[in-house]
Amino acid sequence: MPLPRLGKGHFFGYNCAMPWDPDRYHQFQSQRSAPFEDLLALVKVRPSLRAVDLGCGTGELTRRLADVLPKSDVLGLDNSAEMLDRAAQYVRPGLRFERGDQADLTGSFDLIFSNAALQWSEDHPALISHLYGCLTSGGQLAVQVPSNHMHISHRIIREVAAQDPFRTALNGFIRQAPVLLIEDYARLLFELGAQEIIVFEKVYPHVLEDSDAVVDWISGTALVPYFERLDETTKQTFTHAIRVRMKEELPTQPVFYPFKRTLFSAVKPL
Ligand SMILES: C[S@@+](CC[C@H](N)C(=O)[O-])C[C@H]1O[C@@H](n2cnc3c(N)ncnc32)[C@H](O)[C@@H]1O
Repeated sequence: MPLPRLGKGHFFGYNCAMPWDPDRYHQFQSQRSAPFEDLLALVKVRPSLRAVDLGCGTGELTRRLADVLPKSDVLGLDNSAEMLDRAAQYVRPGLRFERGDQADLTGSFDLIFSNAALQWSEDHPALISHLYGCLTSGGQLAVQVPSNHMHISHRIIREVAAQDPFRTALNGFIRQAPVLLIEDYARLLFELGAQEIIVFEKVYPHVLEDSDAVVDWISGTALVPYFERLDETTKQTFTHAIRVRMKEELPTQPVFYPFKRTLFSAVKPL
């Protein structure tokens, strides 16, 4: 099977919170679905749940979640119009989608689920505490966030963004991941009074065609907040500079891309 790669003349739309591109994001769909399956396995399946999937994206994984929760009401929440346009096809009784910010969640839920999205909101102690407050008694929080921000691919992004002309074009913007150490999530959940706390980190061993495929991967995620701050020409020179550095650091074909992710789950006592 050929290893994944996307053509280089591929651009993002801009009329959303961040320029998420569903096609670019779906390029590595099979690799991205493995952590979702691990997260889904942590969910305590019960009937008639009021559930929310924060940062639901294009909705097919929200549909998977809804399919395993009998007689439940599942809401997919996302702040990207492009992603929600794709999700609309999955609407059915018991499954709906809304535009909104995950950090401003209101209401109460028996299950708050989030796969690969909370890393886009800052201040995780405050965020997790807020989400925990939106759980019903007996409710469950189940989250997966990438924790590979020290991988060379992410270090190269920060290195190139810190150099001119990009530093000036980005107004000094460099994104630092808000993701905590696993022990800090565990302590946070304990201090909130949660029970059945499970926290672990897992490496997903991806094999990509070459260093360009790694750049394609991060173009669908980690580079998104940089792209939204750059005009089209600078975005292309920025991406090119990252491709050059990535090839220097990851010269092999294929490239082994060990991707660390943090998963946690906890239950609010009855
Ligand atoms: C990496 S995608 C994950 C999508 C989906 N959960 C999945 O597993 O395929 C991250 C999603 O989070 C959404 N997102 C980012 N920041 C958000 C925020 N503050 N509130 C709601 N959604 C957000 C993005 O629009 C994007 O659809």
